[in-house]
Amino acid sequence: MSDARLAELTRCLPGLRLLTEPGDLEHYGRDWTRRWTPSPLAIALPASIEEVQAIVRWANLQHVAIVPSGGRTGLSGGAVAANGELVLSLERMNRVLDFDAVDRTLTVQPGIILQAVHDAARSHGLIYPVDFAARGSCSIGGNIATNAGGIRVIRYGNTREWIAGVKVITGNGELLELNRGLTKNSSGYDFRQLMIGSEGTLGIVVEATLRLTDPPPTSQVMLLALPDMDALMQVFALFRARLTLQAFEFFTDRALEHVLAHGAQRAIEGDYPYYVVTEFDATDERAQDAALAAFEHALEQGWVSDGVIAQSDAQAAALWRLREGITESLASRRPYKNDVSVRISAVPAFLQEMQALLAREYPQIEVVWFGHIGDGNLHINVLRPDDLAEEAFIAQCEHVTKLLAATLQRHGGSISAEHGIGLVKRAYLESTRSAAEIALMRGVRKVFDPNGVLNPGKLFADG
Ligand code: MLT
Ligand code: ZN
Repeated sequence: MSDARLAELTRCLPGLRLLTEPGDLEHYGRDWTRRWTPSPLAIALPASIEEVQAIVRWANLQHVAIVPSGGRTGLSGGAVAANGELVLSLERMNRVLDFDAVDRTLTVQPGIILQAVHDAARSHGLIYPVDFAARGSCSIGGNIATNAGGIRVIRYGNTREWIAGVKVITGNGELLELNRGLTKNSSGYDFRQLMIGSEGTLGIVVEATLRLTDPPPTSQVMLLALPDMDALMQVFALFRARLTLQAFEFFTDRALEHVLAHGAQRAIEGDYPYYVVTEFDATDERAQDAALAAFEHALEQGWVSDGVIAQSDAQAAALWRLREGITESLASRRPYKNDVSVRISAVPAFLQEMQALLAREYPQIEVVWFGHIGDGNLHINVLRPDDLAEEAFIAQCEHVTKLLAATLQRHGGSISAEHGIGLVKRAYLESTRSAAEIALMRGVRKVFDPNGVLNPGKLFADG
């Protein structure tokens, strides 16, 4: 091993799997953002908590930064290693460790893929309700590190709500066992919640105990075509009042074009500017009649132009693909992504201002919107025109993001709803958090990671 620091790591942990081939450095050094050139020192693939702990202790002694790494499906650069860091991939720690039927919890290693968590919960007649399109690749450790949200937040909340306990290795190599699966625990600061959403800057999740719940009742999936944004909020209010929603997701005609070009099936003929995919409980005939009545009312009011209810599981999946396939359909264009949120009550006023801002600032640029409108969360994807150089494009997007951040600030919103701050949004943290809060965040980081070895440069530009 030519690097003395790596030689020392191998001496401390002779059994550790370590990768240094260029292909591996590239693969593990990037996430879905694809903006930075990966340049890690090496990739470590520990197989136990003890190995993770030993790596963190080595990193402190050798002054090496660590990038904790899960499925690397992140969209904010939180798992990018572009500065000679050691990538600590948790992918080999991917097992279910325990199911407790009384507590209704599943204890897992951090590298387990979300889909495998869903399958394990289902095999016990229960569900882990956090869900989103990256379920086949993202890992639970990454979900916890970003407090991932997704398509069922409207019903079940974010990842935060479903973590009964975590074990973490802090920046100085201590193992903490936080909350231990307790339902009630009023014994001081809840460090478990502090770890959730900390983007690998306070600790590395090495084990998690997840809460499970009963599967929802039979549901129906409906696709709606809408004439304008005002109608969107009217339909949302109507459906939320009359139905028990499991999801309420929106996308625009531009998003639809991309997803259709990517192989999805058109479900509604004609061109409409906005679409909603909604899923709601439909336990019996009465619930189904209520959904139909709500749809007809929306049609009479002119809030909905057309709609279709899935008649089979296959059709429901096809309708969901129209929404869930958007990210993949745009991936080759490497969109500049904004992921913003405001309180639901602030959505109409914010949307109006935001629409005007984007129309003014991106006159020649394609902007694709979609998102979790029922949670007040919008994804704004900006596509680089072929004739605009990458650098100039990013500069323009950063300028608009600054304006967007100011608009969000006026509406009390957040510059990152569910993707995290990472590298992409760290320049805008002050628009979302007060100076006093940021100072405390930095102080907390110092306590948990005094030498700043965990994911430096993410969240805060200066470590
Ligand atoms: C989604 O809602 O599909 C995800 O947040 C991914 C994305 O924003 O591209
Ligand atoms: Zn999303």
